[in-house]
Parts: sequence; C-alpha cells; structure tokens
Amino acid sequence: MKVAVFGATGLVGGRMLTVLAERNFPVTELIPIASERSAGKKVAFGGKEWTVVTPQVGLDMKPELAIFSAGGQTSLDWAPKFAQMGCYVVDNSSAWRMDPTKKLVIPEINADVLTPEDRIIANPNCSTIQMLMALAPIYRTYGIRRIVVSTYQAITGTGMRAVTQMENERNGVTDGPMIYPHVIDRNCIPQCDSFTENGYTKEEMKLVNETHKIFGDDSILVSPTAIRVPVVGGHSESINVETVKDFTIEEVRALLERTPGLKVVDCPERSEYPMAVTAQHHDEVFVGRLRRDISNPKAMNMWVVADNLRKGAATNAVQIAQYLLEKGFIQA
Ligand code: A2P
Repeated sequence: MKVAVFGATGLVGGRMLTVLAERNFPVTELIPIASERSAGKKVAFGGKEWTVVTPQVGLDMKPELAIFSAGGQTSLDWAPKFAQMGCYVVDNSSAWRMDPTKKLVIPEINADVLTPEDRIIANPNCSTIQMLMALAPIYRTYGIRRIVVSTYQAITGTGMRAVTQMENERNGVTDGPMIYPHVIDRNCIPQCDSFTENGYTKEEMKLVNETHKIFGDDSILVSPTAIRVPVVGGHSESINVETVKDFTIEEVRALLERTPGLKVVDCPERSEYPMAVTAQHHDEVFVGRLRRDISNPKAMNMWVVADNLRKGAATNAVQIAQYLLEKGFIQA
C-alpha cells in the first residue's frame, strides 16, 4: 500500500514510522511529507531511505492512506484534497475532531462507528485517549456521573520546538525561542494550549468535548485541569470518577486487568505504580493507585499514565489504519 505520513519529520510523524514498521503494516511505498524546509531530506523506513516531499507532490503521488500529524491548519488545508481523490486520512490534529460529520475514534472503544465512507477520521487528543482507555470499561459496567481530572503533560506533546526550549534552559541558553509562555524546566505551567472564553484552556475543553463525543453521552460531567510539566515523554493523569452504580475496588481492578490495551500496575507496598519513565516506549495505558474516594463512596481515584507519542498519537492512528485494513475498507 502507498502510505503517506504527513509531518514525517516531526516527533509524532517519526513515531508513526516506528509503529507502522513494528506492526508490519503493509507499506510498499512510503511518502514522507513535510514543509518546503524539509523537502529533499531522507527518512529511513523498512530498510530503505525515502525522500521527503512537499504536500502537493505527496498528493500527486496518490497515496491510498495518509496519516496526518502536521498541525490543525495544515490538516484543514490538505486533508480534504487527499480524501477527495479517494485516500483514507487518519488525522492526528484537532482540526476535525468535533466536526459532526467526522468520526473520533479510539479503536478499542468505538471503532465500530467507522464505515467505508469515512474518508477523514479523527484521532483524539492524547490526554483524552489515555483517560478514556482507563474509563471505558468502568463506563460500560457502572455508568459515569462525573470525572475530575488533572493532567501532568510531557513537553513532547507540544512538538520538537518545545523539546529544544527545555534543552536550552537546561544548557543555560537564555536567548532561545520560547514555545511556552514561561520557563518549563523546574516548573509546572497550568496552561496547555490557549485559553477559551470560559477560563478553561483548549486542552481542558478537549477532555470535556471529546469524552462526550467518543462515549456518545453528553450527560457525563467533566471537570478538567491540564498542566505542562518538565517531563520529556509520558503524560500522567490523576482521575477521580464518580459512577452511577455501586462498585467494589476489587471488581474494578479485575475489570481493568482484563481490558485489552490496559496494564494495571498497582502494588503500593512495593512502591509500584505507573510512571512516565516506565510507560515511555510502550503502547499500553498504565493504571494504578486505584482506591475508593475517602470523601465520596460513589467515586474512586486512579493514576493513569501513557506514552503520549504512542497510544496518545501514533499508535492510536496506526490502530485505526489497521482496522480499515482488517475491515477491507483499504486493501493491502
Ligand atoms: P517540517 O519539519 O518541515 O517543519 P512537530 O510537531 O514535532 O514540531 O512536527 C511538525 C511536523 O509537521 C513536521 O514534520 C513539520 O515539517 C510538519 N509541518 C508543519 N507545517 C507544515 C506545513 N505547512 N506543510 C507541511 N508540513 C508541515
């Protein structure tokens, strides 16, 4: 299959190539797309070197599948052109997520909403993916009334230039470009993305809106706070979830343990719990610190960690592509 990776020189794009290779996705021709700046560069994939091309050249090469991770505006400009010529687009940006004509998919949860007619498919926000992976089995079994979530988000979620900002700070370079409004090293910034009119950031509102769309349930109350922390890779989340039906922690633990894509790491007496450093480079979402809310018997607390570039982005996008292949929407 002719596969384009749009944003191939970026952090997520690079991880897309790794995950496509790991999963033996049937790529016969790779079309790495990036901006004019990168055209002519080489990227390695499947034991060969492939030349980076501009979006127009990539479009003219007529890929059958294109995985986009090059920012919202680029997706708005280019995804319809790729879709129009029959290409399936899996888009990692926020451009199409809340468009009612586009599906927003976490394959383990709602791949069944996809039809052959869905030519632009949206990949959810990284923080939403790991939160809903942990909460989907709880939602199905007990119902969810309210979620209170605080995120501790790694800088790789902002892209290559954020990594450079933190490296500069650590190396004492004081005149480097600032991607965040403040220093990030040795700091926590209570702002991920820009603020919206209601005082919440866009990142926080994604946790609300994408939860409603993916679960197909606007009645779930979501109270989010998103924080950027000086961690290179791996987003962590403190989640308090109030259910509709009664639960026991033992039942919930057993439920999470048998859910594909989740890994329960929860042995406080041995100081074992999910952490960014141990979740990095894995495709699973890690869940631990599972305990009943001592202030509310209908609620529980948990700590959820995942590699933001993998399940939060590249892995989820490639899983969507694998689903299209399994269903025969695209052929190898
Ligand atoms: P380039 O490397 O040529 O700038 P990251 O999120 O890690 O910063 O990566 C962003 C990715 O999106 C890069 O591959 C970048 O290419 C690509 N990109 C950004 N803007 C455009 C654009 N207007 N057209 C094509 N690719 C783009």
